[in-house]
Amino acid sequence: MELYIFSVWVHLLAAMLWLGGMLFLIFVLVPALRGESGELRGRLVDTVGLRFRTVGWTCLLLLLLTGSANILLRGYSLTGTLLIAKLALFGVILVLSFIHDFVIGPRATRAMASGSEDAEKLRRLSAIIGRINTLLALAVVALAIKLVRG
Ligand code: HEM
Repeated sequence: MELYIFSVWVHLLAAMLWLGGMLFLIFVLVPALRGESGELRGRLVDTVGLRFRTVGWTCLLLLLLTGSANILLRGYSLTGTLLIAKLALFGVILVLSFIHDFVIGPRATRAMASGSEDAEKLRRLSAIIGRINTLLALAVVALAIKLVRG
């Protein structure tokens, strides 16, 4: 298989797995746990979140590697507005993902599992950051489609 096609294939699969996983958390896991005890929600979201953190960061790394390969193999100009906008959003996503996955998220699930009084505040903050990240990712996909089709 041509290297460029392979690189775009991996890029698309990584985007699907990462974005699909976040949408699954927002639309399936979190609503399914509504009404359950804080302790159960905390434990489940912690276990699933930690597992998805590894998958998600692997996807982000693959997106960076294959995206760079796509730029080189296809000869995209690094001065193009769409590509610059996409890379800037990707940078914001990396920062927000780091804060969500390594700082606020783990604190929130620990607080929920232990019934601490900060639990609700931290849970809301993680949910807001997670949702902003998902919206930014949807914007990145729109920019990517426009980038390829001119
Ligand atoms: C949140 C991360 C990202 C997502 C969700 C994402 C998503 C996508 C999608 C869906 C496409 C296919 C567009 C289409 O064929 O219509 C694409 C293409 C592309 N992406 Fe990304 N991308 C991400 C990060 C990156 C990064 C970090 C780079 C550069 C370092 C990059 C460079 C490219 C390039 C150059 C293409 C065009 C490939 C081609 O020639 O067909 N992407 N991206």
